[in-house]
Amino acid sequence: MELKEAIRKRQSIRDYEDKPVPEEKLMNVLEAGRLAPSGNNSQSWKFIVVKEPKRRQELAQAANWQTFIGEAPVIIVAVATNAERVMTCGVPAYPVDLAIAVDHMTLAAVDEGLGTCWIGAFSQEKVKEILKIPERYKVVTLFPLGFPKRERATKARKSLEQIVCYETFTE
Ligand SMILES: Cc1cc2nc3c(=O)[nH]c(=O)nc-3n(C[C@H](O)[C@H](O)[C@H](O)COP(=O)(O)O)c2cc1C
Repeated sequence: MELKEAIRKRQSIRDYEDKPVPEEKLMNVLEAGRLAPSGNNSQSWKFIVVKEPKRRQELAQAANWQTFIGEAPVIIVAVATNAERVMTCGVPAYPVDLAIAVDHMTLAAVDEGLGTCWIGAFSQEKVKEILKIPERYKVVTLFPLGFPKRERATKARKSLEQIVCYETFTE
C-alpha cells in the first residue's frame, strides 16, 4: 500500500472482528515502531503486547470503561522509559518520541489491513499497576489492534487554509 493511501485510510477503529491478529502482522506493526526516529536516537521506550483476555478487560476498565478496547484481540501499551528529558526547544522529549513511534505503528497497521485507536483517556496509575510498570516510567498511550469490523468513508478535518500560514504567523 502506498503511504498516501495508508494516511488517507487510517481512522480510529472502535469495532473489531473476533479473530486473532496473525503473528507476522503483529511483528510488522512492532517493527515499524522500532524503526521510528527519536531525539538523540535514544529509543527510550517499551511496547507491551497484551493478549490475555482478562488483562485486556482490566485495561479497558482502566481506560474509563471504554469496553471496545478489551474487545480487540491485542492491546499495545506504549511506555516512555525516560520521562525526564526536555529538548533544547523546551518541549519534553518523551511524548514526541512515543507519538512518532505509535504513529508509525498505526500506519503499518493500516498496511496490514488492521485498525487501531489512540487511547488517551486512561488512568496512569491503574495501567501501571495492571502491567507492573515501574513508577518512574510514563504510559503515553495504549491502543487496541485488530481487524476492523467497519470503516467510515469521511474524515472531519479543517481545511489547509485554516491551518497553514506562510512566512509569519497569522491567526
Ligand atoms: C492524543 C489522542 C487521544 C485520544 N484518546 C481517545 C480515547 O481515549 N478514546 C477514543 O475512543 N478515541 C481517542 N482518540 C481518537 C480521536 O478521537 C480521533 O483520532 C479523532 O476523533 C479523529 O478521528 P480519526 O482518528 O478517525 O481520524 C484519541 C486520539 C488522540 C490523537
